[in-house]
Amino acid sequence: MSQAIKVVVVSGSLRDPSRTHALLQVLVERLQARLVIDLHWVRIAQLGSVLAGSLERDSASSALLPHLRAVENADLIIAGSPVYRASYTGLFKHFFDLVDYQALKGVPVLLAATGGGERHALVIDHQLRPLFAFFQAHTLPYGLYATLDAFSDYRLEDAAQFERIERALDPVEAFFRSPAVRAA
Ligand SMILES: Cc1cc2nc3c(=O)[nH]c(=O)nc-3n(C[C@H](O)[C@H](O)[C@H](O)COP(=O)(O)O)c2cc1C
Repeated sequence: MSQAIKVVVVSGSLRDPSRTHALLQVLVERLQARLVIDLHWVRIAQLGSVLAGSLERDSASSALLPHLRAVENADLIIAGSPVYRASYTGLFKHFFDLVDYQALKGVPVLLAATGGGERHALVIDHQLRPLFAFFQAHTLPYGLYATLDAFSDYRLEDAAQFERIERALDPVEAFFRSPAVRAA
C-alpha cells in the first residue's frame, strides 16, 4: 500500500472528556509511530442530536454523511466504546446501523472498550466482535479493555495497557506491511 492508510476511529463514548477517547488516542499515537496514516475521528459524543435525528440512511443529516462515508471507505477501523449495561452505547450501535452493510467486508477492525470494572471485559468478544462479524469485517484477534484504574484524570497511565497496545498493533502493522497489501 503506497499511500497513507485511511484509518477511521469511532469512539462510542457519550461524554467529553472520555476515558474511551483517551485509550483510543494513545492507540492512534502508537499507530502513527509505526505507519503513515490518514486519520478520521468519529466522536459519538459530538454527534448525539444529529444521530438521534437521523433514523434512516436515506434521510440522514448531512452532518453525518462524511462520517458514514469515511467508515465505508476505511482501510482500517478502530472501534471503541464504553460499556453501558454490558454492551456498547446505544448511539454507537445506531451509527453502525446507518453504515452500508456491504461496505466493511474484509476490512480490519481493531476493537477497544472501557468499563467500570473487569467483569465486563468480554464486551469485546460478546458484543463488539459479533457486530463486526455481521459486516463480514476482519476483526483483529487482540482487543483492548481498560477499567477506571488504568486512568488518571482522563489520561491513560497504566504501563500494562501501553504494552497491550503495542501487542494489539503488531498484527496491524504486519498486515499493512505485507507484500500483497503494499502492492494493492
Ligand atoms: C449508563 C451507564 C452504564 C454503564 N454500564 C456499565 C456496565 O455495564 N459495566 C461496566 O463495567 N461499566 C459500566 N459503566 C461505566 C463505564 O463503562 C465507564 O465509566 C467507562 O469507562 C466510561 O467511558 P467514557 O469516559 O469514555 O464515557 C456504565 C456507565 C454508564 C454512564
